[in-house]
Amino acid sequence: MIGKVIFSSTQEVIFRIQDDVEVETITVGTLIIINSYYKYLARISSVELKNLGENTLADKVATINTEDVFGDIQSALGEQFYYVCKARVVGIVDGRLRGAKSIPKFLSTVRKAEKGDLAFLEEMRGDVVEVGMVRDVDIPILLDRKYLITRHCGVFGKTGSGKSNTVKVILSKLIEKKTPCLVFDIHSEYSGYECLRSSKDVVIMGIGNCEDVTISLPLSAIKPKDVRLVTSINETQGEAIDMIRRRYKKEWISYITGTDSKTISKEFEDKISDMTIGVLKRKLDSLEMQCYVGPSFNSLEYMFQALCKHKTLVIDFGEYEHNDYAIRLITTVVSRFLLEKYKNAKRQGTNLPETLIVLEEAHKLLSKDLTRLTIFEEIVREGRKFNIGLLVVDQTPRKIHEEVISQLNTVIIMLLTNIKDREHLVLSSENDLSDFKDEMARLDMGEMIVTGISVPVPLFGKVPEFVGLNQKAPDGFDAFSFNE
Ligand SMILES: Nc1ncnc2c1ncn2[C@@H]1O[C@H](COP(=O)(O)OP(=O)(O)OP(=O)(O)O)[C@@H](O)[C@H]1O
Ligand SMILES: [Mg+2]
Repeated sequence: MIGKVIFSSTQEVIFRIQDDVEVETITVGTLIIINSYYKYLARISSVELKNLGENTLADKVATINTEDVFGDIQSALGEQFYYVCKARVVGIVDGRLRGAKSIPKFLSTVRKAEKGDLAFLEEMRGDVVEVGMVRDVDIPILLDRKYLITRHCGVFGKTGSGKSNTVKVILSKLIEKKTPCLVFDIHSEYSGYECLRSSKDVVIMGIGNCEDVTISLPLSAIKPKDVRLVTSINETQGEAIDMIRRRYKKEWISYITGTDSKTISKEFEDKISDMTIGVLKRKLDSLEMQCYVGPSFNSLEYMFQALCKHKTLVIDFGEYEHNDYAIRLITTVVSRFLLEKYKNAKRQGTNLPETLIVLEEAHKLLSKDLTRLTIFEEIVREGRKFNIGLLVVDQTPRKIHEEVISQLNTVIIMLLTNIKDREHLVLSSENDLSDFKDEMARLDMGEMIVTGISVPVPLFGKVPEFVGLNQKAPDGFDAFSFNE
């Protein structure tokens, strides 16, 4: 036993810590059991020093040289000073976990939760992904795989807090379960042999000059919205693009870049000025010149087929890691192509496997201004109908549009020290994160708070260090062939 309840309400329970318990072993976030008529599971939200006497008693005692007279003070004041914990009830445990509609009684005993108390967490074994262990209890944190993917997830934490490590652990479990994932590997963290390359179920793709299958986006897959994402287009230029696109459909870019200005102007009865055509030509020429744009090979179809075969795709941005133009264009065009393919499959009655799109450096795409130009707003809004989900990874969640955050139904929070980041998450998330606002700033590297639809209760836990995949590729390169 660590204490007894001295205050109880539907909002909060306060218990006094027993004098024989070392107060520094009682930590915020710890799960406790309150034994009353029911067995309540609660989480410690704060620890405080209290005293029975007048308000200034602690101040007065502090002015005395306690080293000399400590024994006297203790014998004079006895248990004037004591510690209490505030805790939030999570639910009632009786084999399973159910919501608490009552409160524990005065003087109910309190102890730390043990493995047996949390057996309900393991009962969800089945289609789950193990991501770490519950803090202080030898029990795994299991995430419901389908919810994790189709209801979208966020992994947030400051730089170095362990986000990418957590994502690697999640991906390794998904790959074991033959769940296809598409990883936009902005900083080449996932594509190495020590990470995902060693798996026969993983296909690495690259940009430009690289040994891997290279990305090539067909011009026909690029829409006016995508051009707006990478370059500024004013109203007049926008109207011209719309006119041309209505007539030339998917060929609109090659028509503009491949036809001389006078011919275009004439064809559109001088409704488009030479100057406008000139600007558009310049912008689209530079788009066409990107090494990852071109007609040579339809890598989009290749990617779709790989995912359908339950492969995981890692797009390694290599030297393009700081190239926002490439990041915006590739992530959006690829993800939209896939969303459309998955939608079509659904229309035709085929259910494609749940597929997870992993977006590192998400603030580069999901800011308030940019989100609507990318496809990701649509994916978080309706991807689940078509089995596509988004895993958003970022170190500055305050830069991510609140509407995106509100759609992330599983939130994994790692160390977040910036108050604006924490407040933005609390205010934007559909999950009630207010209890964890301070805790987010106290996590160690690799520690996390997992909340949301994939877990029965919010959990504090530790992610193991990613040490590689279990499966190794057979000798030789096991490339996925387009017509496999
Ligand atoms: N759970 C863990 N156990 C042990 N080491 C870890 C753990 N998580 C992360 N690390 C180590 O900490 C370092 C930083 O981790 P990681 O790259 O995952 O951080 P990050 O949050 O993704 O940072 P950034 O925002 O810079 O991308 C790595 O070297 C990694 O090996
Ligand atoms: Mg990282």
